[in-house]
Amino acid sequence: MRDVAELVVLITGGSKGIGRSTAEALVDAGAHVAITARNAEGVREVAQELGARGGGRAIGIAMDVRDYDQQRDAVAETVAAFGRLDGLVANAGVGRFGSIADLSVEDWHAVIDTNLTGVFYSIKAALEALTASEGTIVTIGSLAGANFFAGGSAYNASKFALAGFTQAVMLDLRERGIKVSTIMPGSVATAFGGREPGPDDAWKIQGEDIAEMILYLFRTHPRSLPSKIEVRPSRPPTR
Ligand SMILES: NC(=O)c1ccc[n+]([C@@H]2O[C@H](COP(=O)([O-])OP(=O)(O)OC[C@H]3O[C@@H](n4cnc5c(N)ncnc54)[C@H](OP(=O)(O)O)[C@@H]3O)[C@@H](O)[C@H]2O)c1
Repeated sequence: MRDVAELVVLITGGSKGIGRSTAEALVDAGAHVAITARNAEGVREVAQELGARGGGRAIGIAMDVRDYDQQRDAVAETVAAFGRLDGLVANAGVGRFGSIADLSVEDWHAVIDTNLTGVFYSIKAALEALTASEGTIVTIGSLAGANFFAGGSAYNASKFALAGFTQAVMLDLRERGIKVSTIMPGSVATAFGGREPGPDDAWKIQGEDIAEMILYLFRTHPRSLPSKIEVRPSRPPTR
């Protein structure tokens, strides 16, 4: 197992949910993190809280993954702060759900531009720095990238495409010594659906469970590459 202490990891969408849990786990293990999100106040506040945990250091960067220049600036700011980049967790994502009749053109673009094009931009922007460090990339897909459902056309399209995109990039980059993996979770107890999780969500995967898997991917021996992890709640409620 490789040590993650002192690694420098950029996490998109690191102010909430899975991204925040991942940042906490990395900082607690001694890694330095740069977290990004659109809400400037939120991302800076969370970075301060991360830095106060007593492990690795943290910075917060306000940016939108749908803008390539902002992605490049975020990588440059991370390298300026910590001197290198060892990992990228391309996690930022949004959901807009509804029948195709009700789904607006704006909904479509919000989902595809964030969940698919945003991840393409993240990887492009970080590629030079990750080549130098022979780093690790983890994309956060979804079981909605393997199973379609009514009302999911935009989200399914974004996550099916992300699954194919990530696996192809994995083949492109392994010869550079860069590991690329995707995690495809089922229901995770976050505010992704627009509602803060409560006691009723205890059966769901928790953010820290996904964080644990991300740390595992960073720790695996350089000779082996777990390229795809599907994870589902072990005891979903019976319908
Ligand atoms: N929760 C689930 O059940 C579940 C299941 C499978 C997969 N996933 C995937 O897991 C990932 C994280 O989801 P989550 O549940 O942790 O969601 P969440 O709690 O809503 O957090 C999303 C994070 O992404 C940021 N974000 C959203 N749009 C952004 C943009 N355009 N640019 C930069 N940052 C942006 C948000 O901050 P701002 O709003 O401030 O930008 C926030 O930090 C997503 O890709 C999602 O599709 C979630």
